[in-house]
Amino acid sequence: MESNSSLSADLKKVARELQSHKIELHQTRAYLQCILQNSTELIFATDAEGVLVSFSKGGVKVLGYSLEEVFGRPISDLAEDPESFASVIAGCQQEGCAVALDVAFRHKGGEAVYCNVSLMDLTNREGQRVGSVGICQDITRQKKLQEDLIQVDRLAEIGRIAAGVAHEINNPVAVINEASGWAAEVIADAKGLSPDDREELEGVVTKIKAQTLRCRNITHKLLGFVRDSDLAKKEFDLHETLKETVDLLKSEVKYTSIEIDMNFVEGPLPVVSDARLLEQVFVNIVANAIHAVVAKGGENGRIEIRTLKRDSQIEVSIEDNGGGIPEEHQDKVFELFYTTKPPGKGTGLGLPICQNIVRNLGGELSFETTVGVGTTFTVQIPAQ
Ligand SMILES: Nc1ncnc2c1ncn2[C@@H]1O[C@H](COP(=O)(O)OP(=O)(O)OP(=O)(O)O)[C@@H](O)[C@H]1O
Ligand SMILES: [Mg+2]
Repeated sequence: MESNSSLSADLKKVARELQSHKIELHQTRAYLQCILQNSTELIFATDAEGVLVSFSKGGVKVLGYSLEEVFGRPISDLAEDPESFASVIAGCQQEGCAVALDVAFRHKGGEAVYCNVSLMDLTNREGQRVGSVGICQDITRQKKLQEDLIQVDRLAEIGRIAAGVAHEINNPVAVINEASGWAAEVIADAKGLSPDDREELEGVVTKIKAQTLRCRNITHKLLGFVRDSDLAKKEFDLHETLKETVDLLKSEVKYTSIEIDMNFVEGPLPVVSDARLLEQVFVNIVANAIHAVVAKGGENGRIEIRTLKRDSQIEVSIEDNGGGIPEEHQDKVFELFYTTKPPGKGTGLGLPICQNIVRNLGGELSFETTVGVGTTFTVQIPAQ
């Protein structure tokens, strides 16, 4: 009798324990489910062979795939370099470790996604490894920012070197320029030169002068870029500056059929800014527009300069119907020395200098372009 009642008590105790384990299990499952459903990170689990058996909802956000799309595929398939990721997972399983590493994955859409992956061994009750669990945090943005910072740093360094070189070259160029003037005088005074020799020598001296002028131009542009030139702000009529810019470039369009239209808001457009620097910006942009139209063939070439006043902002747009800028070059046009012009024609300093000037004046320089249709550069500056 007694043993019966103790047996029933034991049974009740086991049943209670079982119930509490069930509740615990249920809670743990709900807890895990909640993490898998709501984590913005990608959490995955693989079997011992690295084949995906679980893939959290965050996977859709991070890599564009749902569990159904990747279930049964090796996780390494999703990495940019499947072989090395597979060997990392295999290594982790052999050594039974937890590692954190940066892995480049490929998004369903094709682009690279950088993740910081924490990889852990998954073991069964007997302590045998049955797979891996990985938590992947998307660090693409940080990575991009880091790369941008390195790029800015590199550009600043290039700028400093370029300024140093420009400074060093300035003096010898000035000497060559002076010497060529002196040589021209010697040639003019020289007696006993045959007309052919004289003509040839004069031609050579003219070339030397023109090329030294070009060198000086480049070094001055470079130095102007690096030096934060003092702003000379005063009130002036921006429409006048734009008309002067077009006048200055008249010779460039003289033998072409390019039409330059000015579509301005009514009346003068007073601004308080640096007229000389702004003229430099407009000359650069309009010259680029002329080159783009000429490069396209120049037929029915048209450049339109528009002005607009929006509250306290002034907008100047320069639109051309040239060939446009291909998408793969669009990121580069503001880089120092980026040019698609033949050697001797462009230095690739125009737009970076313009951007620098406009920013120093508290504005922004932007562009819109369509290949085969044309490009519009827009300068936005504060009116005051
Ligand atoms: N309106 C435009 N249409 C098409 N491409 C353009 C236009 N403006 C600029 N670009 C492209 O951007 C590049 C860089 O322009 P940027 O003014 O900085 O240098 P550049 O004109 O080549 O040389 P530089 O101005 O120093 O003589 C050009 O070589 C050209 O490829
Ligand atoms: Mg230019």
